[in-house]
Amino acid sequence: MTEAIEHDDLWWRQAVTYQVYIRSFADGDGDGTGDLAGLRSRLGYLRDLGVDALWINPWYESPLNDGGYDVANYRAIDRRYGDLAGAEALISDAHDLGLKVLADLVPNHTSSEHAWFREAISAAPGDASRDRYYFRSGRGPDGTEPPNNWQSVFGGPAWTRIDDGDWYLHLFDVSQPDLNWDHPEVRADFLDIFRFWFDRGIDGFRVDVAHGLSKDPSLPDLAAGVPAFGIEQDGSHPYWDRDEVHEIIREWRSVADSYAGKVMVAEAWVSPERLPMYLKSDQYHQSFDFDFLTAPWTAAARRPLIERAIQLIDSNAAMPTWVLSNHDVIRHATRFALAPENQPTGINASVVDDDLDQHVGLNRARAAAMLMLALPGSVYLYQGEELGLREVTDLPPEVLDDPIWERTGHKIKGRDGCRVPIPWTRSGPAFGFGEAAPWLPQPSDFADFSVEAQTGVAGSTLELYRSALALRRAHLSAGSTFAWIDMGDDVIAFERGGITNVTNFGDEPVELPNGTILLTSGPSDGHTVGTDVTAWIQTPS
Ligand code: BGC
Repeated sequence: MTEAIEHDDLWWRQAVTYQVYIRSFADGDGDGTGDLAGLRSRLGYLRDLGVDALWINPWYESPLNDGGYDVANYRAIDRRYGDLAGAEALISDAHDLGLKVLADLVPNHTSSEHAWFREAISAAPGDASRDRYYFRSGRGPDGTEPPNNWQSVFGGPAWTRIDDGDWYLHLFDVSQPDLNWDHPEVRADFLDIFRFWFDRGIDGFRVDVAHGLSKDPSLPDLAAGVPAFGIEQDGSHPYWDRDEVHEIIREWRSVADSYAGKVMVAEAWVSPERLPMYLKSDQYHQSFDFDFLTAPWTAAARRPLIERAIQLIDSNAAMPTWVLSNHDVIRHATRFALAPENQPTGINASVVDDDLDQHVGLNRARAAAMLMLALPGSVYLYQGEELGLREVTDLPPEVLDDPIWERTGHKIKGRDGCRVPIPWTRSGPAFGFGEAAPWLPQPSDFADFSVEAQTGVAGSTLELYRSALALRRAHLSAGSTFAWIDMGDDVIAFERGGITNVTNFGDEPVELPNGTILLTSGPSDGHTVGTDVTAWIQTPS
């Protein structure tokens, strides 16, 4: 293999990947739902933004009970998004523009509409077709109690009883039955699914619930004190982060490695001690650093996370994979609008409108983006963060679509607030998202956040991202060294690739080092930056 090809195969190590929540990106056929045609028509925007790759949330045939994380057919595109030929055309167009394309693989569960599950429920108890999932008899005299005490991540019990008396396991929604990864057909089919998409030019996969899949075969009750969604540090949880999962990942990796330049990124909510196991050279290439996502906006919380990542690079263990927002969490412009001690984390979080200072939130979001883009490793951006979009916290109950809302008995609104279709224009139907009313309503102030309203406007969040991405490409490339600079407890400062990053989390202005100011996320008098501002300074050589 030549050096050039080797380098290209490692494209993901420093890449900036843009997460496309396809349902909410651009609606090409005017039905209120984003689609492949809409995305294809906006690829130029993504190229001009300056990202290297796209990750597209599940696009497969699905009843969309959980936004497509309930897959009915892994080898077909949902008709609301387009078709297979459209997906191939999208991949080809993206490649022509120099953009890689990652798909989203959902291996922990299928949809209850999947052919395997339909076969299983139309068969009799004990039929072999049920072995691809977890079907069990209930407990209690008439089997009316679930087989164990596991709870669904979305609320309520993790077991549902069907008419013939058997129960099946679903760690998420009732329409998302868990697959049995000890079953050879399940293992073989997913290897084939990887090949199916790699053969169509997909450059990699984000893998959903990567820390799930394997279960303790005895399906024991969760012991008192063991959290249902918690992170055990010894692999002893009956369904999260079990050691057996690594054998499965190794099989996938060998398929990926039989092609050139493919990448697999894990969505693994595991303890930092166990994360490196997922990143061994025969497993995932990347795993999101969710500690960086969930950390509050303080230097004290973020510095150790950067230190930890640098140590992993130095010991050759892994390249960091930074992320601030995704389709499961409250947008960071809104999280950061709260005082650090109140900033919510996780997928089941809610915010209370009254406490929000959106102006502060946006300043911090802009500073955070520059800080993240200055770090070594790869970065994932969530659609709309480049526009400074906030969480839509006041969606009316009748439009809520996330299963969390129903499964928590209307206690938790869920994740729709970060999934509202993005605004492209100041005016017109759905602010340019599409001709029809969008599947979730957009608030009127989205006009001011639209691509049109920000393009060419100095200091807008969109132009800030464009400039930061261009500077990152020019200066903060692979291999540049990292050196901390001590500017006090409230400042995160370091030098990389001839650029000094200064992020001021404190109340007082900080003096900038000598050099040319290339970019700031907020106001600067040319010598100092104030609270919640990041500056990049070119260090004199
Ligand atoms: C995805 C969620 C989804 C869940 C179940 C996740 O972690 O990111 O959006 O609801 O997996 O598939």
